[in-house]
Amino acid sequence: MARIFETNKLVIASHNLGKVREIGELLAPFGTETLSAGELGLPEPIEDGITFIANAEIKALAAATASGLPALADDSGLEVEALGGEPGIYSARWAGPSKDFTVAMAAINGKLSGITNMAANFTCALTLAWPDGHMESFEGKVFGTLTWPLRGNRGFGYDPMFIPTGHAVTFAEMEPSEKHAMSHRAHAFKQLIDACFKNS
Ligand code: IMP
Repeated sequence: MARIFETNKLVIASHNLGKVREIGELLAPFGTETLSAGELGLPEPIEDGITFIANAEIKALAAATASGLPALADDSGLEVEALGGEPGIYSARWAGPSKDFTVAMAAINGKLSGITNMAANFTCALTLAWPDGHMESFEGKVFGTLTWPLRGNRGFGYDPMFIPTGHAVTFAEMEPSEKHAMSHRAHAFKQLIDACFKNS
């Protein structure tokens, strides 16, 4: 049995404003007040785990310990089957210091030259940590294929290159609500809510 989240204050262990806002909106129906690690001035820990869950646990535990409140962290990325799962946990880093995902997607396309297997998936790990060190972790995935040239200008990151299975358009061509209903993040959130939030 997973531990139930019973306080009403939760720290979002991220300095990324977009992520903080999206998670706050997802948790609003449960009456959860969210604070961000950025607004609390918490330091950013070194993400040196070798899995998505390990990195989510590092971030969530650091924020829970430093703030004395339960904390939620998310770690996500794109895994390309023919590249042995790359860029994986390094998805953000492949975009370089300028955070230019066009560069990262062009690098993937270059590495796939001459390869016919275009299978890929997004993965999202979510960890809820308590100040006493207890943690609950969940992982969601969405499978699909990569396409080139890039298509669409919605979403973020690798969305213009990714077509989810059973669809004809990329994540960047879809309505955001359509993407949010089927994404890796949605699958991980459903598991978290079902396990740890009452009235779900
Ligand atoms: P994180 O903030 O360290 O977890 O980095 C996650 C990276 O994975 C992001 O910078 C994106 O490049 C990529 N990523 C994660 N989720 C998505 C998504 O839904 N669409 C596109 N790219 C994503």
